[in-house]
Amino acid sequence: MKNILVTGGAGFIGSAFVRHMVASYPDYNIICFDKLTYAGNIDNLLPVSDEENYRFERGDVADRSAVSRVLREYRIDTVVNFAAESHVDRSILAPDAFIHTDVVGVYILLDEGRKHGIERFCQVSTDEVYGDIEDGLSLEDDRFLPNSPYAASKAGGELMVRAYHATYGMDTVITRGSNTYGPYQYPEKLVPFFTTEAIDDRPLPLYGDGEQIRDWLYVDDHARGVDRILHYGATGEAYNLAGENQRNNIEVTTRILKLLGKPDSLIRHVPDREGHDRRYAMSAEKARALGWRRQFDFETGLEATVRWYQENEWWWRKIKTGEYLDYYKQQYAERLASVE
Ligand code: NAD
Ligand code: TYD
Repeated sequence: MKNILVTGGAGFIGSAFVRHMVASYPDYNIICFDKLTYAGNIDNLLPVSDEENYRFERGDVADRSAVSRVLREYRIDTVVNFAAESHVDRSILAPDAFIHTDVVGVYILLDEGRKHGIERFCQVSTDEVYGDIEDGLSLEDDRFLPNSPYAASKAGGELMVRAYHATYGMDTVITRGSNTYGPYQYPEKLVPFFTTEAIDDRPLPLYGDGEQIRDWLYVDDHARGVDRILHYGATGEAYNLAGENQRNNIEVTTRILKLLGKPDSLIRHVPDREGHDRRYAMSAEKARALGWRRQFDFETGLEATVRWYQENEWWWRKIKTGEYLDYYKQQYAERLASVE
């Protein structure tokens, strides 16, 4: 392993992975390939922009000629694919881009990767492919029951990875991370959205009864997990990266408010997300057997995250303009108005 293509490396988790890999492996060349959609942000890569072993190329994973060119020019031997449309609510409003990137994009990366003889392909996936689990923990061999267009698109991408392994003998691994939070997360997902809204004393639209459960994983733990599976995962296998920090949304929200010294009266129970999964929870055993273990518990990770948003307004204030405001209006204006 020497020349690693990190697709989607300008996003939230991909950029944490790039920063981690550039610092940890001076002998590897890390090439970030990203379309810079609304969620991609070159600011996320400022900490590594001057490093010798880092390069950035702008492009679309579903663009065959662009993918072929970077694979050839940089003599890529390893692909780690973070590129995705990643927000469930946006997938409900407009699924098209999800099929383009999370299904077709994965196929193009696999197909061009195979032609260029890459040695390993790592697909970054999600616990959402298992769908809702009422109790117990999802295991890697459980069946897929995705419920949102986002989850279904990620499941489709994974199945293509499986097929390229089974059919063409490609060396592949898959990671399935749980809900991730931390610095540099686009402020549409629960933790950064509520944190930045609460800083400005704005209402927090909690879907339904707020009792939905997610398993929260700190972003640096997720990045180290992908590193572990990339290096030590068995070919053709999938590995859960579980935070083992199950919390319901009310607990997460009230903890954010407490850390900011803001009142619970900012919470608004708004009409629920369509097809909303009640609970995700996975077993971490298989990844643990490879030597990965999360280091951050939820309390420590959330405190660090909230502090980061308090101290880095330069990063998020300029995001919460333009396209973001259009999306906010579409997603929340009616919901909030209905409970005022
Ligand atoms: P993100 O939305 O912050 O970043 C996605 C990145 O992909 C952006 O930089 C974007 O510009 C890029 N991108 C989108 N379409 C592209 C295309 N067609 N070609 C090239 N680049 C493109 O997402 P994230 O939260 O960092 O998630 C990264 C990966 O991890 C995704 O595959 C997601 O499914 C998975 N995941 C996320 C979570 C989570 O809680 N955020 C949990 C588990 C798994
Ligand atoms: P999110 O961060 O969108 O992640 P995911 O849908 O991938 O789990 O949402 C986390 C939980 O928070 C989920 O149960 C939906 C809920 N949520 C709200 O209640 N209000 C919101 O405005 C958002 C964005 C999420």
